[in-house]
Amino acid sequence: MNILVTGGAGYIGSHVVEELQKSGFTPIVYDNFSTGHEEAVPEDVQLIEGDIHDVRFAKHIMEQFKIDAVIHFAASSLVGESMANPSKYYFNNVEGSLHLLEAMRGAGVDRIVFSSTAAVYGEPEQVPITEDSKLQPTNVYGRSKLMIEKMLADYDMAYDMRYVALRYFNAAGASPTRDIGEDHNPESHLIPLILKTAQGVRKQVAIFGTDYPTEDGTCIRDYIHVCDLAKAHVLALQHLLKGGASRVYNLGSENGFSVRQMIDSAKKITAVDFTVVEEARRAGDPAVLIASSERIRSELGWVPEHSSVDEVISTAWKWHKGHPQGYNG
Ligand code: UFG
Repeated sequence: MNILVTGGAGYIGSHVVEELQKSGFTPIVYDNFSTGHEEAVPEDVQLIEGDIHDVRFAKHIMEQFKIDAVIHFAASSLVGESMANPSKYYFNNVEGSLHLLEAMRGAGVDRIVFSSTAAVYGEPEQVPITEDSKLQPTNVYGRSKLMIEKMLADYDMAYDMRYVALRYFNAAGASPTRDIGEDHNPESHLIPLILKTAQGVRKQVAIFGTDYPTEDGTCIRDYIHVCDLAKAHVLALQHLLKGGASRVYNLGSENGFSVRQMIDSAKKITAVDFTVVEEARRAGDPAVLIASSERIRSELGWVPEHSSVDEVISTAWKWHKGHPQGYNG
């Protein structure tokens, strides 16, 4: 079956492309390369340079390749940038997704797996966070993703377009089998910043806030290996292709680790005693985010297999060591 993967040259998208191939699907990558990397797409995968805003072209590609379903990653995804430049997020994420849905409708494609985020919950009222928790995003990025979820629900109601929205917690790690990994510019995520410090590309890593109401005073997050995320996309796709109903699922390991714990593990795994400094809190960071992934475990049989902190950090370390400048070197 032919699956159009928008943003398939990005970090999570490229890992999902690998999992799709392993599971017998034919991925077709659709990416405008604004942040994606051509090198992240395997040579035997059809790569289309295109924009989700281009409804006619996207529809044409869906018809030409007889697309059975779409997995939609293409989006802007930096929380800080979304607050400084909301226009970009409403345009790329909300309007871009609307255009993609219109292209799908035009081409008669009626199944979509959507890349959502834990940022739709904002500051949680309780942890672990279930899918029924209050949706009150505290940043524009999270709001843009929530708006798309609502759009998907309306398209389902009116046009029978079935969707699965996957709310990721902290995606991390890299493929153990293919030479792909995380390469954002600018980089803002904790694990790549830690590892770039360990390899000497950066001088130091900062802990943002040491006065949170947690055991060691630093923020706790739920780190989920990108290969476990990838597996969940294939399960979601299979669910939809079997005629399953639209669903929303959290994707997390259900374990929380503090910033200090991540730094300590990275020091152990890399065997480098890199420089760590303490800084003030970063605006908008909730103290603790831990998922309940019970729903997808019980409904789709998803089991995270690679999300121990050791495996997350060691696979990411392998990628960073081989690519000190990301895909550019
Ligand atoms: N952190 C530091 N120092 C850094 C970078 C991050 O201490 O240099 C801390 C943050 O304060 C946070 C934790 O490390 O407590 C993780 O930060 P990341 O930026 O790696 O990830 P976030 O938890 O902020 O963001 C992730 C996803 C977003 C998503 C959000 C949902 O990357 O896409 O979860 O809340 F929106």
